[in-house]
Amino acid sequence: MAKLIMIRKAADKDLRDIVTVWKRNIETINTASDIVDLFRYFKKYFFVAVSTVSKSKDVDSVIGLVGGTIRSGHGHISGIAVDKEYRTQGIGKSLLKTVEREFLANNLEKVTLEVRISNRGAIGFYEKQGYNRSYIVKRYYADGEDAIVYEKRI
Ligand SMILES: CC(C)(COP(=O)(O)OP(=O)(O)OC[C@H]1O[C@@H](n2cnc3c(N)ncnc32)[C@H](O)[C@@H]1OP(=O)(O)O)[C@@H](O)C(=O)NCCC(=O)NCCS
Repeated sequence: MAKLIMIRKAADKDLRDIVTVWKRNIETINTASDIVDLFRYFKKYFFVAVSTVSKSKDVDSVIGLVGGTIRSGHGHISGIAVDKEYRTQGIGKSLLKTVEREFLANNLEKVTLEVRISNRGAIGFYEKQGYNRSYIVKRYYADGEDAIVYEKRI
C-alpha cells in the first residue's frame, strides 16, 4: 500500500517519538527532559511529519518534526529534523512553512534560529527558505562549537 506523508500538529501521544526523532537526527546536548519541557510550554508550535499507510491517524509513525518556541518575543526554531531516508523530498520545507504560518497567526513576524557552523546541510536548507545570516555566537554549544544566528521576516 502506498505511503502517505502528512504534517499535523503534535499531540501528547507523539512525545516519545518526538524525543526519539529529535535525538536521532539533531546533534544536540538537549536531554529528553529539555525536549519534553519545550514541548509542554510551546506545544502549539510543534508539528510532526508522519508516514502512514492509510488515512487513519492511528497507524502513523513520526518521521520528522519541527519544534517552534518563542524567544525574546520572536518565533524561534528550537529543532527541525527529518529522518535520513525521508530527506530531500520537501518534508523539511513543509514543516518549516507550517510553523511559520502558526507564528504569523499569533502575530510573531520574525523567526530566529541557531545552527552549528559546521552544519552545512542545515545552513543550505535554511538559506533556501529565505533565512538571513545575522551574527555568530562564539562557543554557543556545550562542546565549544560556534553557532550562526539566522533570522527571517515572515
Ligand atoms: C535540515 C533538514 C530538516 C532538511 O529536511 P529535508 O526534508 O531534507 O529538506 P527539504 O527536502 O524540504 O529541502 C528543502 C530545500 O532545501 C534544500 N536542502 C535540503 N537539504 C540540503 C542540504 N543538505 N544542502 C543544501 N540544500 C539542502 C533542498 O535542496 C530544497 O531545495 P529546493 O526548495 O530548491 O528544492 C534535514 O536535512 C535534517 O533533518 N537534518 C538533520 C537535522 C538538522 O541538522 N537540523 C537542523 C538543526 S536543528
